[in-house]
Order: sequence, then C-alpha cells, then structure tokens
Amino acid sequence: MNDVRFEPKIIGFLCNWCSYRAADLAGTSRRLYAPNARMIRLMCSGRVDPTFVLKAFSLGADGVFVAGCHPGECHYVEQNYKTMRRFILLRYTLEQLGIEPQRFRLIWASAAEGQQLAAAIDEMVEQVRELGPLDWPELPVGGDAYEEALEGMAQESEEWVEAPV
Ligand code: FES
Repeated sequence: MNDVRFEPKIIGFLCNWCSYRAADLAGTSRRLYAPNARMIRLMCSGRVDPTFVLKAFSLGADGVFVAGCHPGECHYVEQNYKTMRRFILLRYTLEQLGIEPQRFRLIWASAAEGQQLAAAIDEMVEQVRELGPLDWPELPVGGDAYEEALEGMAQESEEWVEAPV
C-alpha cells in the first residue's frame, strides 16, 4: 500500500499591492500556509494573461490561483474587474479541457488580510490534494525542466514589475 501523501504543486499569481503584501504579512505574523504554493508577483491581477495560467498547468501545476485587490480597490482603476471576467471565461474553458474548477481559483485579499489569504491557500491545497494529481498524459510533470521554467516565469514577472511605468 502506498501511504505517501500527495503534495499538490500550486502556482499563485499575486498582485504586488495587495495580495503579495498579504502573503508577506502572513509570513511575518508567522501564519504559515501550506508550502505547496509557489508565488509569482505581478503588478496587478489584470496582468495575468490567460496564457500564464495555461503555461503553469502545462508545466505540471496541479492548481493555479490568481490573487488581487478587492473589487473597487485595484491600483489600476478597474483592472481586477477585467480579471474577474477573464477568470470566469478561463475557468469554463479549463473545465472543457478536463480541469476541475477547484484547480483554478480567484482570491481577493487586501494587504491586511494575510490570515484570509493563508486560509484560502490551505483550503485550495486540500481540495486539490483530494482531486489528486492533474493527469494530463501529454504534459511534462516535475523535474529540473519544471523548476527552470518556473524560475523563468518568475524572472519574467520580476522584470515586468521592475520596469518603469
Ligand atoms: S493592483 Fe491589485 S488587483 Fe490591480
């Protein structure tokens, strides 16, 4: 019997102004969230191109979340409303491709909501753990290539964050 617990790989795209700071706050207040999540910082949730999500899944992520400022509090006026609309469409599309809705999540978290963000991440990890690995047979899963590709994505995002506006 195999009693090794499945540890899902979760990729999170977080807005710099709210949710990334919430994740920081969770860390500094010692509210530990599941270590399964790899965070990628972007200036705004509106920056999350649907291809980023598809790329994360295609690289072997078992779940992906996008986290941003609450509606009405986006630093780029109404970009997170765009995020919301994209999320609904993308989640529907992913379902058509056989990816369960629990694997793709949108989380709103202000900079003060470290606890809430951590709880949402924990909940997602548990839901994806119950679903098991995302079994797209044609996809490369894990390994050095996966790690390198993730680093590449994080670097691309960092460059974007640092670019003058
Ligand atoms: S700046 Fe946070 S979602 Fe737009």
